[in-house]
Amino acid sequence: MKILGIETSCDETSASIIECQDDKIKLLSNIISSQVKLHAKWGGVVPNLAAREHLKNIIPVLKMAIRKAGINPADLDLISVTNGPGLIPALLIGTNVAKTLSYAWEKPLIGIHHIEGHIAANFICENSKSETQNLKFPILCLVVSGGHTQLVLMNDYLKYEIVGQTLDDAAGEAFDKVARILDIGYPGGPNIAKQAIDFKTKSWESKISLPRPMINKNNFDFSFSGLKTAVLYETNKHPGFLGNKNYIAEMCHEFQQAVVDVLIAKTLKAAKKYKPKTIMLAGGVAANSELRKQLGEAIKKNTPGIEYQMPEIDFTGDNAAMIATAAYFRWKNMTSIQKKKNFSGWKNLDTDANLKLK
Ligand code: KG4
Ligand code: ZN
Repeated sequence: MKILGIETSCDETSASIIECQDDKIKLLSNIISSQVKLHAKWGGVVPNLAAREHLKNIIPVLKMAIRKAGINPADLDLISVTNGPGLIPALLIGTNVAKTLSYAWEKPLIGIHHIEGHIAANFICENSKSETQNLKFPILCLVVSGGHTQLVLMNDYLKYEIVGQTLDDAAGEAFDKVARILDIGYPGGPNIAKQAIDFKTKSWESKISLPRPMINKNNFDFSFSGLKTAVLYETNKHPGFLGNKNYIAEMCHEFQQAVVDVLIAKTLKAAKKYKPKTIMLAGGVAANSELRKQLGEAIKKNTPGIEYQMPEIDFTGDNAAMIATAAYFRWKNMTSIQKKKNFSGWKNLDTDANLKLK
């Protein structure tokens, strides 16, 4: 079956077409138009600006996705769209386009939870072309994005149990806020990671010491807002630090390591309790090379026997291929009556800024 995915929940306009058979996912196209440069001057995503950009870009992105896939709309079997969580003005553009297409093309439509999409990114395996990842359940998934930091236990496809989450800022949000303090641009994650590499390759000795919030707490929750404040206090002790490149690189290195340490410690703690067969990463922060590397090493050392899975870098950030992939697993699990109902999905699909993963 061929599935169209649409994603507009934040600052990426994306459309993708995948072809699925017997759990094999073949990527036909995955077009992403990023608004990062537009929002950079505000230091974060401005919802109404994002909506205007989505409105401008969604049809060209869709056209490109269809052309690149080499299909006709008539070939599609299903349309899927992110309907939450996210920024409402942004979500409305994607859902409205998806509803219109579902009505006009007479195709079924389903709404997909954005985090379900991030998790599903692990089931796309573009390098080996049409193979789906054959992952063993139970899976413990560390979801780290700009809006979420969660430990999600999956006993099977579509079965999600949130066993821990951030009590305040998400990991990606902390990266973005710290980058703002250090004046190194938006989005903060890639910029901080780059500075941290500079620090490491120069083999400087780190003198800054930041806290590892909640690392020893006997639960699987996180808190990153205090870490951001610790960075602020630390920089306040060094007036004029903005002109000190070495200091900024050192701060980036220590901040990134503090986040990575907490994420790894909590994931291992949850793994000890829930005994998953696979630990996997998902979300925009899963692009962080130190997190990818150090989590892999920690699993090997502390919980041997548990497999480690990371999404390919191309599928870590927001993209529509992950939404279409999640839609495939949802569709596959539906009865024929439920499938039929989705032909009128355009009538009642709603957006929800705080949609819950279930
Ligand atoms: O999943 P995503 O693309 O959007 C949301 O669903 O929020 O995640 C975006 C977040 C941003 O906060 C960005 O700074 C962070 O992912 N990010 C990174 C890296 N690349 C993106 N954080 C750390 N290291 C990276 N290399
Ligand atoms: Zn995302």
